[in-house]
Amino acid sequence: MIPVFKPHIDADTMKAAVDALHLGWLGMGSYVRDFEEKLAVAFELPPERRLVAVNTCTSALHLALLNAGVGPGDEVITPALNNIGDFQAIGMCGARPVFVDINEDDLSINPELVEPLISPKTKAIIVLHYTGTAARVHQILDIAGKHGLRVIEDAAHATGTRVDGRPIGSYGDMACFSFDAIKTLTCIDGGAVVVPNAEEAEQLYPARLLGMTQPNERLYGNSRAYQFDVFKQGFRYHLANLHAAIGLSQLASLGEFTSNRRKYCRLYNELLKNVPGVVTPADRFDGASIFHYCLRVPGGNRPLLQAHMKEKGVDTGIHWMPGNRFTWLKDCRGANDLPVTDRVGDEILTLPLWSYMTEEVIHTVAASIRSFFRLPSLK
Ligand SMILES: Cc1ncc(COP(=O)(O)O)c(C=O)c1O
Repeated sequence: MIPVFKPHIDADTMKAAVDALHLGWLGMGSYVRDFEEKLAVAFELPPERRLVAVNTCTSALHLALLNAGVGPGDEVITPALNNIGDFQAIGMCGARPVFVDINEDDLSINPELVEPLISPKTKAIIVLHYTGTAARVHQILDIAGKHGLRVIEDAAHATGTRVDGRPIGSYGDMACFSFDAIKTLTCIDGGAVVVPNAEEAEQLYPARLLGMTQPNERLYGNSRAYQFDVFKQGFRYHLANLHAAIGLSQLASLGEFTSNRRKYCRLYNELLKNVPGVVTPADRFDGASIFHYCLRVPGGNRPLLQAHMKEKGVDTGIHWMPGNRFTWLKDCRGANDLPVTDRVGDEILTLPLWSYMTEEVIHTVAASIRSFFRLPSLK
């Protein structure tokens, strides 16, 4: 079976993991410092901005929301076509999502629809860069600025994506990244949050480590203090050395990962462009780090196509069921006014995309789709 995701674990990553284990300091330490520093360089962060590594993107989102002052009874505007981690992070703050619809072209937040949803309870807006292509974040930043709201970019799919020439994280307000098991850059599990300045980062350091006032210099030197204060609620969200070591080894290849993925997406588009039963994604791949290739299958054919592809040995995914379909969230404000999300939610189909594929695999995937629509393979 051709899998949907296949993380690239090579000899360098194996060695990085073994080296980190040999170090003997398995908790947060020098590898985490190096990972944070190298990510900050990769994301071209200006000197005032800070990147804080954590154990998942869900944790990053939770900390970013708390940093935005989101608390019980508040509302956070987010596309319903988003990851459950976002909805849970909002819930962890005691707040509720407010769902906004998406654009037909990029399947990300539609800025035109945001302002009417803002209420006195709104504290923040989440902008998801769906699939890894750039969302219309600058329009959202303008709206948020007008209303005094914080903006959190969910860049879980978009490690390395550039928006108007600048990497996500290097501009704007806050940005959250995921390095989980299937992401383009994996730490097995890992995440990061970028905040605009050192003062906000100082709030996040204890928050990621059970509220403890452990000096970073000490932790980053593979040691810890036994005398410390706890002055606020904190969480066990820190990243461990082993995971950071794996992330560091992956980061060295990020440029190649992303250029390969763009190439594969373009080949899929080429092989599928004339298939009448599917809609290929618009080629917004320049400057993007693509996590998943999202085909659309209108006309109710998705389950049949998925079954046919499975028979041909090709696995597919759905990212995701929109949030307004879950029992817990179906009554959220905005949940009944999402015509694009509701339709697209039945059409999206994730095709296999990895950092190193052969053209043959891509041809096999495309042929399995073409044969469903009784079209010959292009090879
Ligand atoms: C858009 C988005 N946000 C957040 C998350 C949560 O990330 P993590 O698994 O690192 O907690 C994911 C995970 O797939 C995601 O795709």
